[in-house]
Amino acid sequence: MVCLGNICRSPLAEGILKSKVSEAIFIDSAGTAAYHVGNLPDVRSIEVALKHGIDISQQRARKFTEKDFDDFDLIYAMDQSNYQDIIALSRTKEDRQKAQLILNEINTNANQDVPDPYYGEDNGFENVYQMLDEACEVIASKIQ
Ligand code: 4NP
Repeated sequence: MVCLGNICRSPLAEGILKSKVSEAIFIDSAGTAAYHVGNLPDVRSIEVALKHGIDISQQRARKFTEKDFDDFDLIYAMDQSNYQDIIALSRTKEDRQKAQLILNEINTNANQDVPDPYYGEDNGFENVYQMLDEACEVIASKIQ
């Protein structure tokens, strides 16, 4: 699960998908930017996850690297900018085939973005939660 800062959207996506699949499936998140490396998720993401019974407070932000193409089978970008940044780090066609926009799991080929809630109102986080919950339900049914 990849967003820009790895403190708002992708930590939620990680927590939500983990809540829907076996612990045997390794799920992680990262950011394409390094601004927040080592930080906890944004308190607004922690709170909206807790409201839905999910604890993401143990997560720490890290930066997406090309090694992630070796470590993961599927790489979900939260928005088109993150997707382009991931593709820029890819080395092969196989790398590129692992990356996709997460909301395309709900609306195929619509190329919709999960809106960045960082500078917005608190209800932006609930909105993001609902989108990610729907997408993760589809992902879980595919990979479980
Ligand atoms: P995220 O949100 O990509 O969903 O983690 C953001 C977090 C921080 C910043 C931008 C987006 N920032 O500019 O610091």
